Amino acid sequence: MGGELLGRIDIPKATAATILIVFLGAAVRRRYYSPLSDIPGPFFASFSVIWQLWHIIKCHTEAAMREMATGLTRQLAGKFVRLSHKEVSISDPAAVREVLQSQMDKANWYKVFSMPDSRYENTMSETSYKEMNRRTRNVAAGYSLSNVIKGEPYIDKALGLFQTQLDRRVASGSSIELDKWVNYLAFDVVGESTFSKSFGFLEAGHDIGNSISNQYKLRLYIALIGHFSWAHDYLLANPLIGHFNLQPSMHVFDTSMAAVKKRSESVETRNDMIELWQQQYRNHPDRMDEKEILAAAVANGSADVDIFKMGAGADTVSCILQAFCYYLLRDTESLKLVREEIDNASLSPIPSYEETRELPVLSACIKESYRIHTPVGFNLPRVSPSPDGVTVCGRYFAPGVILSVSPWVIHRQQSVFGSDAESYNAQRWLGDKDRAIQMEKYMIAFGTGYGSCPGRSLAHMEILKTTALLIRDYEWEQVTKGQVWTFETYFTSIPYNWPVKMRRRRKFNA
Ligand code: HEM
Ligand SMILES: *[C@@H]1O[C@H](CO)[C@@H](O)[C@H](O)[C@H]1NC(C)=O
Ligand SMILES: *[C@@H]1O[C@H](CO)[C@@H](O)[C@H](O)[C@H]1NC(C)=O
Repeated sequence: MGGELLGRIDIPKATAATILIVFLGAAVRRRYYSPLSDIPGPFFASFSVIWQLWHIIKCHTEAAMREMATGLTRQLAGKFVRLSHKEVSISDPAAVREVLQSQMDKANWYKVFSMPDSRYENTMSETSYKEMNRRTRNVAAGYSLSNVIKGEPYIDKALGLFQTQLDRRVASGSSIELDKWVNYLAFDVVGESTFSKSFGFLEAGHDIGNSISNQYKLRLYIALIGHFSWAHDYLLANPLIGHFNLQPSMHVFDTSMAAVKKRSESVETRNDMIELWQQQYRNHPDRMDEKEILAAAVANGSADVDIFKMGAGADTVSCILQAFCYYLLRDTESLKLVREEIDNASLSPIPSYEETRELPVLSACIKESYRIHTPVGFNLPRVSPSPDGVTVCGRYFAPGVILSVSPWVIHRQQSVFGSDAESYNAQRWLGDKDRAIQMEKYMIAFGTGYGSCPGRSLAHMEILKTTALLIRDYEWEQVTKGQVWTFETYFTSIPYNWPVKMRRRRKFNA
């Protein structure tokens, strides 16, 4: 009798049913019996990371976050949104201080930054607050403003080439894809300042070996797999995969490996970041192990592990340069004002950092670009600490809950930036100094606190010089006036597809 019954049960179906019941049970528990149950959020987010993955695939996490912050949260009079069964996003501006500037560890999501595989840890992939502080100190010298300024002549070289290439296109009257050119510039500058070698994109005038476009695949991988950090070791991060060159972005690695190799062969090595990091190692061998050096840049011309970061450093700068040009077309008053300021300043042929760093209108236009088109479109996640948990913005969170802050959401808070927070208005930064200082506290384009961007001095210098040069020497308009650009957000929100016509304002080689 029993045997007969057993015979009739379809084993695969029974297995499927069991799995389904287990999953449903977990889902119900997560949705209704979790300490986060009362926090509003999208349906699928209440029991899984499906909602987050879906918006990564749709490439617009930043838009979804904004929608919720202006719709869902306000409607429910809350400052918390549940993004998954274990993650809560906070739109209250106080989260800048209470989450990002606290000593909470970064969420596991960051572990995906150990590239090319898990043997190479670096500051970005490191999630523990203490460990991070130590590592960051070891590489900070390379990124400091004083070191970056030493590299200014090399940025000038790249900018000169950028201008020559633009002038050729301007002279021929063809339309110009500014997104590509600023991307080449940003990449070459990162190469120059890290290992004394530009990638040669500006000179070639195209994406050599598609190494830039190939990075898009890596970006999607990073954004997605970050949610399953345990899987990283089995996929990309698996040392075997590294060994057999199966990285999706191997071309990017190749490009930088070749550059590093050339650097080690060149007679004059200058004080680039690699040199500084190596000095640090020689002086304090106890403080860094060899893998960290490898991770910090590259010793001996071997694989450069931080290439993803270089890509990130280039994309982010490119975002701001583009936003600056795009949004000034839509704020003609600020454009007129900034042009007047730059013309008044009689800058050097390649504007210097010293000449440009304190021009108020230029600074205002750049700040507004950081605010309205924040390069990092992702949430910055931290973890509620063990064993006590944490109280943030008036609510207690148990240990292990991920608390995240979206720079896009913070940058559009009306309570901080005014009722026109949704639109570009560079002049909000001019006039009332106290207000500007108040707003500045909530500007988190570079992150803030211990996990903030070490590349910001370099980025800011490059952006000041490039924007000043563009404003002084060129006028531009979109080929299709008023056309809205396109961008996708994996980690960075890099725009493309908005060709412009450019005109020289001054004589060539003036
Ligand atoms: C406009 C330009 C840039 C923006 C908006 C930007 C923004 C950011 C943000 C938001 C983070 C993460 C902070 C967090 O997790 O809380 C970050 C990390 C980082 N950025 Fe940037 N970045 C820019 C340019 C650069 C450049 C030019 C470089 C290097 C040449 C660079 C190198 C890095 C590195 C190495 C990290 C990892 C920090 C760590 O180890 O934790 N960034 N950046
Ligand atoms: C660098 O090269 C030297 C000599 O070839 C070698 O002894 C050393 O282990 C290498 N270091 C790294 C970090 O690869
Ligand atoms: C430019 O210089 C003129 C004359 O000195 C001055 O009136 C004007 O305010 C300046 N413009 C800006 C934006 O600094």
